[in-house]
Amino acid sequence: MKGIVLAGGSGTRLYPMTLAVSKQLVPVYDKPMIYYPISVLMLAGITDILIITTPQDRDAYERLLGDGSWLGLTFSYAEQPHPRGLADAFIVGADHVGDDSVALILGDNIFHGPGFSQLLTRSSDGIKGCVLFGYAVSDPHRYGIGEVDEYGHLISLEEKPAAPRSNRAVTGLYFYDNDVVEIARSLTPSARGELEITDVNKTYLERGRARLVDLGRGFAWLDAGTYESLLEAGQYVRALELRQGVRIACLEEIALHAGLIDAEQCYDLGRRVGNSGYGHYVMELAEQARRSPMSVALR
Ligand code: G1P
Repeated sequence: MKGIVLAGGSGTRLYPMTLAVSKQLVPVYDKPMIYYPISVLMLAGITDILIITTPQDRDAYERLLGDGSWLGLTFSYAEQPHPRGLADAFIVGADHVGDDSVALILGDNIFHGPGFSQLLTRSSDGIKGCVLFGYAVSDPHRYGIGEVDEYGHLISLEEKPAAPRSNRAVTGLYFYDNDVVEIARSLTPSARGELEITDVNKTYLERGRARLVDLGRGFAWLDAGTYESLLEAGQYVRALELRQGVRIACLEEIALHAGLIDAEQCYDLGRRVGNSGYGHYVMELAEQARRSPMSVALR
């Protein structure tokens, strides 16, 4: 399965912060926002990731993330000059997807919860159709909303409904089989002039090929696109990290854990940013892995 992180858009709701810096590079506590969605794709076992950004921000992403080889991954980049909707990602990224399946994640979505990696790999293995991830919210009119019947089958999808039929938001993480490219190409822009991801998902639903997997109460799903939600996300990450002494969305840790890099490489990556708490953490992980390889798996 290929991965796409959508990091375009102009982040106008965060102005003036995003006048000179791309939204998905703004920090969420101790690391750039885009680390969080990248960590999700890594936890799903995806190693080939396309980052879609704007022409003016592309250089900054390349400076931060490079070609991905430092993490045992492949990062490539594509540009979306104007926001044409989330579904445009499959048109911009058609070559990257090739004849594979694909996971799309929005660059400002933060997911955290127990057993997430297993849930992701279970949901993506041999995917036929699409898998959406549902999350109970108190303000459903702000999101794509899924309705399920008494057996848990998805029966309707609506984008930002005035009168929501359920409180199940469709989060910004989507798994698709290869049909998604052809479906995206066949869409017509909505009233707001965008190719809507909800229209892609409705096509799968009409074909009887859409599933909604619930992220339960123990999960955190946060977006970071407004002053409030950005601060809340930072506070959430800070609280957990300080309390438990672990770091959420530490890409080096996930790569080490997955065997994509070894302890020596991990140590060098930590030293590169060694003047920071993040860097110390990465070096410490590497030292533990050197002493006892099992300790990595236990974290
Ligand atoms: C988009 C989707 C919506 C989804 C949301 C998740 O909305 O259109 O269906 O629930 O992302 O973050 P946007 O935030 O682009 O308005």
